[in-house]
Amino acid sequence: MNPIVVEARNLPSHVGIIMDGNGRWAQMRNQDRVDGHREGSAAVRRVVRAARKLGLRALTLYAFSEQNWARPDEEVDALMVLLREFLLSERDEILDNGIRLNAIGNLGRLPGIVRAVLDPLRSESSEKTEMTLTLALSYGGREEIAQAAQELAVRVAQGKCKPEEVTADALRELMPSLRVGDPDLVIRTGGERRISNFLLYGLAYAELYFEDALWPDYGAEHLYAAIESYQQRERRFGLVGKAAAPLVDGVAKNDVRLAG
Ligand code: FPP
Repeated sequence: MNPIVVEARNLPSHVGIIMDGNGRWAQMRNQDRVDGHREGSAAVRRVVRAARKLGLRALTLYAFSEQNWARPDEEVDALMVLLREFLLSERDEILDNGIRLNAIGNLGRLPGIVRAVLDPLRSESSEKTEMTLTLALSYGGREEIAQAAQELAVRVAQGKCKPEEVTADALRELMPSLRVGDPDLVIRTGGERRISNFLLYGLAYAELYFEDALWPDYGAEHLYAAIESYQQRERRFGLVGKAAAPLVDGVAKNDVRLAG
């Protein structure tokens, strides 16, 4: 089998991942759903390392949706503990590798045990520039759009902004998920083909990649395969032909060769 070669040119700058399939992974083994989430944490580690090695500028992981609060209390509590453990155990690696740890979503809903480790790491890593790792926590794409719209409505009501200044760009400016740029590639694992309220506004021209592997089984080679697929696509942004040259920001560092 030929090795997968991920070329350093034309890398997606911002990759988003919907990490799905933890529960099914556990059920297939007659284990508790929480065991699936624990294995899912290990996959997060692998993928963050792979993304950094590849030279991606931004990786956004859908770790907990606004809708996930409705899951059973034991599962929600276990996910919060896993999140805390992840942040504690990865702290040094994040800082040593120049990664800025960012979080988006309704962070006020997160329990103190998470905020106590999340907030210091966000500020300690705020000057890091190699890659931004964003955890979407208590996040919803519709909620993010509504919040930006509400903010503009307030500005209009206060006379700080004219109604005709409520534009697509003005909304975009107010969306924390897009500060690292629109996602170029969004991957969903676990075989389902839907977006589930992730990065809705930024998705307009993203390339989508659906992966059958369940998230706990996901690794560097899966990420490389998704990027290889992305590199073979022609992005047109609503244009035609040469006018639609891909947005490449020249950040690529190393070609990554995987033994097949
Ligand atoms: C979806 O799988 C996954 C989640 C709701 C949580 C994702 C959490 C992790 C990967 C681990 C902790 C996160 C970090 C950042 C350390 P599912 O439970 O919906 O799976 P199913 O569709 O098979 O039931």
